[in-house]
Amino acid sequence: MAEPVQTPQAFPTRIFSGIQPSGSLTLGNYLGALKRFAQKQDEGIETLYCVVDLHAITVWQDPEKLRQQTREVAAAYIASGIDPKRSILYNQSQVRAHAELAWIFNCVARIGWMYRMTQFKDKAGANSENSSLGLLAYPSLMAADILAFKATHVPVGEDQKQHIELTRDIAAKFNHDYKVNFFPITEPLIEGPATKVMSLRDGTKKMSKSDPSDQSRINLTDDADTIAKKIRKAKTDAEPLPDNVEGLEGRPDARSLVNIYAALSDRTTADVLTEFAGAQFGTFKPALADLAVEKLGPITAEMNRLMQEPDEIDAILGRGAERAEAISSPILNDVYDIVGMIRSRQV
Ligand code: TYM
Repeated sequence: MAEPVQTPQAFPTRIFSGIQPSGSLTLGNYLGALKRFAQKQDEGIETLYCVVDLHAITVWQDPEKLRQQTREVAAAYIASGIDPKRSILYNQSQVRAHAELAWIFNCVARIGWMYRMTQFKDKAGANSENSSLGLLAYPSLMAADILAFKATHVPVGEDQKQHIELTRDIAAKFNHDYKVNFFPITEPLIEGPATKVMSLRDGTKKMSKSDPSDQSRINLTDDADTIAKKIRKAKTDAEPLPDNVEGLEGRPDARSLVNIYAALSDRTTADVLTEFAGAQFGTFKPALADLAVEKLGPITAEMNRLMQEPDEIDAILGRGAERAEAISSPILNDVYDIVGMIRSRQV
């Protein structure tokens, strides 16, 4: 008989997402992730947001810089509207379930699944034999992040879709192999006009913190002048803006800037085009720069303020970790039980 199909509806709604502390955060992280994370929290859903430091070390990180970047991501969460009282905000390595469940999932997932991941192929490059074993197993840890809390929904940008699909495969295989109805089949939430914010230098490439050109991205730490300069220099074509979305077909650079405008102003792309129909980039770019500075300026200022108080950030992460531990520990214990581990030590 076929196994019953698991739907997230069978589990209480719980949101989990994470950000790597592996470099400075970009406008892509803000629009594709942080801003939407705060919206989910404000909708009153139970939300857990994590700084995934264990994921960051799948490629080399200088220890002191890693600590700094971890605090910076925590500051970015808070400055973007994550309230550590309403959401659970913490760093991954302080909660055991992540690494421990990842090991179990390493034994559930297949190596072939990992080799198929485009992010692994991109990051490992031509010399994949020389990449860390952790980089290959990265999605297994990501599945553990999500499933250690039986999270039902995961807001992410488009680039993480394949990893969430793998999380679903791991959950389904675990449920199937152990004949249980234990893990939800998590839904990705990839919504809005900014699920893939593009490079300012190439509208066909994702804006990324790892791009060698700093001109390709807006960093959340950039000041107003830098933001304005980068937008002024952004790659465009010579045509005026069209009056509808179809008119952006074959114009990736133009489309990208209009999408950024839409996401920053909480409007649809169509609505923005109605306002700027026929405008040249000489008009549109300064309007976009003003909007970006208006929206990002307060976030950068708040991040800078928080970064002056590293002890306070560490205390917030510690309190969040305790709350995360309280949810994930019983789930992890159940997993050990299901798998057949003896748990006779009283803790
Ligand atoms: P990371 O740290 O690369 O990115 C964090 C979030 O930002 C989104 N993002 C973008 N969205 C739109 N446009 C862009 N240009 C852009 N660049 C980045 C990402 O999609 C992501 O949502 N593996 C994850 C971190 C992670 C995670 C998890 C996420 C670890 N465990 C569990 C969700 C659930 C990553 O490297 O994201």
